[in-house]
Amino acid sequence: MLQTGVPGLDVPRRNAFGLDFRDFEKESLRNAIVQECYRKNHIYQTCEFANKKKEEYGKLDKAEMSIWECCELLKNYVDESDPDLDEPQIDHLLQTAEAIRRDHPHEYWLQLTALIHDLGKVLLHPAFGEEPQWCVVGDTFPLGCAFDNNIVHHQFFKENPDSRNPAFNTKLGIYSENIGLDNITMSWAMHRHGAYTFVMNDEDKEMLKWLQVFNKYDLYSKSKVKINQEEVKPYYLSLIKKYFPEKLKW
Ligand SMILES: [Fe+2]
Repeated sequence: MLQTGVPGLDVPRRNAFGLDFRDFEKESLRNAIVQECYRKNHIYQTCEFANKKKEEYGKLDKAEMSIWECCELLKNYVDESDPDLDEPQIDHLLQTAEAIRRDHPHEYWLQLTALIHDLGKVLLHPAFGEEPQWCVVGDTFPLGCAFDNNIVHHQFFKENPDSRNPAFNTKLGIYSENIGLDNITMSWAMHRHGAYTFVMNDEDKEMLKWLQVFNKYDLYSKSKVKINQEEVKPYYLSLIKKYFPEKLKW
């Protein structure tokens, strides 16, 4: 069991089939696709590239739609970076949210977090520039500092131009100690291997517990059990209504 620090919420290291989650070593066609996605991701994700994308998408001028409309846009996409899942993304969102709803029926915020947590993958859609998978999906990591050895498929970073940039290639890089993670997404390396703790402040450390709880559902709810979308839709529409305006700019 992996200790999350939250009583009663330690998570298993193996799934219902007795297989390790995130088994990146497994030899299969699926893993070849996963590996290729990470190869490109680790070579092409540079500080410069990420800043350009941030500027482009920060304008929020691509669409105006509701949260549910965005969920529905994800019905045609499968995440190529995920060795445990080959279902469309909307199924993954609903499976995660429903698993939390079952175990935590009154934690509405956590259920809604599950519903929206992968909506960024809408960048794969033609209306959002049809970005390639390597640019959108996969475990995230901070740029502008040395790539941690615990990042999956770490070997591909040696071809990333930032690895040769002396300003970026130190432990802290462009960051200061305990800067806080407001602008840095928590990553697999971070929550599973304790990487990048040098940028975390006390609030981040507190949030890390919740992140591990959430990840239990994000990773471990994956299954072939299909959620009936029409059946659960009214429940999630009511949750969305409670926390979000009707339309958002994307
Ligand atoms: Fe997810």
